Amino acid sequence: MTQTAASAIRCALLGAGRIGVGHAEALAQIDQVALTVADADPQRAQQVAQSLEPASGITVAHTTPQEVFSRAEDYDAVVIATPTATHEELVLACARAGLPFFCEKPLASDLAGTQRCIEAVERAGIASQVGFQRRFDPAYTEARRRVQAGELGQVHRVHMLTCDQSPPPESFVAMSGGIWRDCLIHDIDALRWVTGREVEEVMAFGQVRGADYFRAHGDIDEGVALLRLDDGTLVTAQTSRNNGQGYDVRMEISGTLGNATVGLEPKVPLVSVEPGADFPGPEPWVDFIARFADCYGRELAAFIDVVAGRGTSRCEARDAMEALRVAIALGVSREQGRPVRVADIQP
Ligand SMILES: NC(=O)c1ccc[n+]([C@@H]2O[C@H](COP(=O)([O-])OP(=O)(O)OC[C@H]3O[C@@H](n4cnc5c(N)ncnc54)[C@H](O)[C@@H]3O)[C@@H](O)[C@H]2O)c1
Repeated sequence: MTQTAASAIRCALLGAGRIGVGHAEALAQIDQVALTVADADPQRAQQVAQSLEPASGITVAHTTPQEVFSRAEDYDAVVIATPTATHEELVLACARAGLPFFCEKPLASDLAGTQRCIEAVERAGIASQVGFQRRFDPAYTEARRRVQAGELGQVHRVHMLTCDQSPPPESFVAMSGGIWRDCLIHDIDALRWVTGREVEEVMAFGQVRGADYFRAHGDIDEGVALLRLDDGTLVTAQTSRNNGQGYDVRMEISGTLGNATVGLEPKVPLVSVEPGADFPGPEPWVDFIARFADCYGRELAAFIDVVAGRGTSRCEARDAMEALRVAIALGVSREQGRPVRVADIQP
């Protein structure tokens, strides 16, 4: 149904890069959204705005990020998909303007910045949502339901991993905050969400096995970790930037009565050498955009529902803090070669 501009949710998207262009497409598919695209590069904003065919029938506008905040009364919501280093200032600007926002993970680059964002959001009383899209994935959601319903019995072990097929460019690595904060943070958030437990202690190891630029930025391209949850559940984690077979995201939860595994489907990038095995299929996932395309759409539709007063946020600003503390603990553990208690990681 074609909306009128007056009845639509007026949403500004900030940042139309790698992830932002997908968010623009997803927002344009929501029929009650009137979208404006803003990018630091005005040509990019215009190009993306003009490429969209909105379900609302309302032409997609384009503007500069500065104009969004100087004309805040023209908007009902903001979606932030800019580089990580800009998130804090944009979240604080939303709080000052009283605009509910969705922000790509992480909310801020460090713990102090994350704390400032949380306090500003709570002072302003605005709705917030952080881009942990796995909370909108059907398999993670079903794993959570089974765990919470007791169908696995007492959970004793979790194995989880996120492995990219090929490394991101050096320019991204320089700004990313490192593999734990950029990549494994999604598994950490999913672990908290699925099990309902908090991480108490971690031990991490890492190596650079591929491009030298990871070392130059104090990062690694292979990481493994052990985590202990507050009920004694033991967790193993892996993350990589060099998984030649494809983009691999899995979570295996094992308890006294059974198991729930996320990611065990035909596109999982594993090769069985069992005689006669015809699983998995021949076309593995290649990247997060393909693997989580539906989830990005669902998380933004849920955010628009929150803005429209039809629901509450499934991943609030405060959730970003807990996942970041664990990711930082992993980095400290790897650098110092010792176990780290998450309670010792404070803003
Ligand atoms: N949830 C996920 O699965 C996922 C995946 C990829 C990236 N991300 C996150 O999304 C964010 C963006 O990553 P990306 O890979 O799309 O980056 P990118 O560099 O491809 O795109 C960023 C865009 O923002 C624009 N920009 C820069 N500063 C701006 C500002 N102040 N206002 C408006 N626009 C601005 C740039 O011109 C660029 O077009 C990062 O924080 C990253 O962690 C999340």
